[in-house]
Amino acid sequence: MINYTEKIPNNVDLGRDRVLQRALEHWQPAYMGWWYDMGPNESHNYEVYLRTATSVEPDGWAQFGYVKMPDYRWGIFLQPRDEKREVNFGIHKGQAAWQEVPGEYRSTLRRVIVTQGDTEPASVEQQRMLGSSCPSMYDLRNIFQVNVEEGRHLWAMVYLLHRYFGRDGREEAESLLARRSGDADNPRILGAFNEPTPDWLAFYMFTFFTDRDGKFQLCALAESGFDPLARTCRFMLTEEAHHMFVGETGISRIIQRTCEVMKENKVEDPSDVRALGVIDLPTIQRYLNFHYSVTLDLYGSDVSSNAANYYTSGLKGRFRETKLDDDHVLADAEYPVYEVVGGKIVSKNVPALTALNERLRDDYIDEIADGVGRWQRVIDNAGIPFRLTLPHKGFHREIGNFAGHFISSEGEVLSEEAWKNHEFEWLPNPKDYAYVQSLMSGRVVEPGKFANWIAPPARGINNQPLNFEYVRFN
Ligand SMILES: [Fe+2]
Ligand SMILES: [Fe+2]
Repeated sequence: MINYTEKIPNNVDLGRDRVLQRALEHWQPAYMGWWYDMGPNESHNYEVYLRTATSVEPDGWAQFGYVKMPDYRWGIFLQPRDEKREVNFGIHKGQAAWQEVPGEYRSTLRRVIVTQGDTEPASVEQQRMLGSSCPSMYDLRNIFQVNVEEGRHLWAMVYLLHRYFGRDGREEAESLLARRSGDADNPRILGAFNEPTPDWLAFYMFTFFTDRDGKFQLCALAESGFDPLARTCRFMLTEEAHHMFVGETGISRIIQRTCEVMKENKVEDPSDVRALGVIDLPTIQRYLNFHYSVTLDLYGSDVSSNAANYYTSGLKGRFRETKLDDDHVLADAEYPVYEVVGGKIVSKNVPALTALNERLRDDYIDEIADGVGRWQRVIDNAGIPFRLTLPHKGFHREIGNFAGHFISSEGEVLSEEAWKNHEFEWLPNPKDYAYVQSLMSGRVVEPGKFANWIAPPARGINNQPLNFEYVRFN
């Protein structure tokens, strides 16, 4: 029997909620089994300098200290309730926000929660082997932080399933621990979460691109008329910011190091750059193209009646819904989507309600473009004539209007054969992966040391110095 208030920090009155306690009595040991099997490899005895959320107050959501990860206090936190909150969009706009699941939307809402929940353990599974090739103790601590928080995000979704969905919810919560990233028989639900994350360049790209999809999905769910979901997602967003920080600064530090070495040695040719043990910029571009395109697919079909239903029902809003200046019903509004007609990419207006996936994808692309611009400045400041670009939205897509078409990274519609001829100029090829892996054959864990292929960060975690002992291996 677990002491709930101590072991599971929460603001949902878990100590008095018998139903929830009983559900967690079964699920918590299964979760720990999953963590031991699928959590970071060989890490169970390490003491890691982690932040833990112990309350939603400004001073409580980031308590730093050494923790063995299996002892991490995965908590359940919802943003405090606003008694006056309403459903802010769709046909129920103006009603009081729902505190219980509306019967008619029960299965839809459960599906939405399960789909979000499934991504959280998936990324832990994808990243579980990376500790053995970390470029520094600082980075090792960061990946572990991301991993335990994705574990907490799973808890957040499982809380909703247990608390609001009865037996079906409990079954779904078990399935969340049974699926495995990349498994042929029982894979994770969404494509990008079944792709391998084979190296640290891929990890940083994943946290920049794919965790940011997580942010945008959470932002849309944070608008939900189902208030407990909205409040859960709002709190998760505070943690998500760190994951994207890890990705953006990770790539930025790799670019910085590459540029330094290129300047010092006056080399530009990728093979000369590789000979110096750093990652050439064209390889970074190819990784970028891959992670960007598979993440764009996560938003779903450009035109989607499901997306329209989620919105009309008040279950999933738009990015920053309440800040948008329109009727929040969208009955007559239109929105442009692209399609391929006669070998050309053309834009056409469709009812805005059906284009909500595309709209969220566009909001995401705007933010991505800003981040890529910041990476570009690192290259420009070094005076190196190389441009990082975002490929065309239709490049390498498997879902939506571009699926089945062969679009170049510049946005030309090609034949399959022509596309295949260029595939490995645009996407990482086996040699790229092998080269990047060759740089990461062992781990760098002496405090204050960094692998040759990455620059140190500007500052340490929680104002600690760079040579702080972020992980104790015991
Ligand atoms: Fe997450
Ligand atoms: Fe995340």
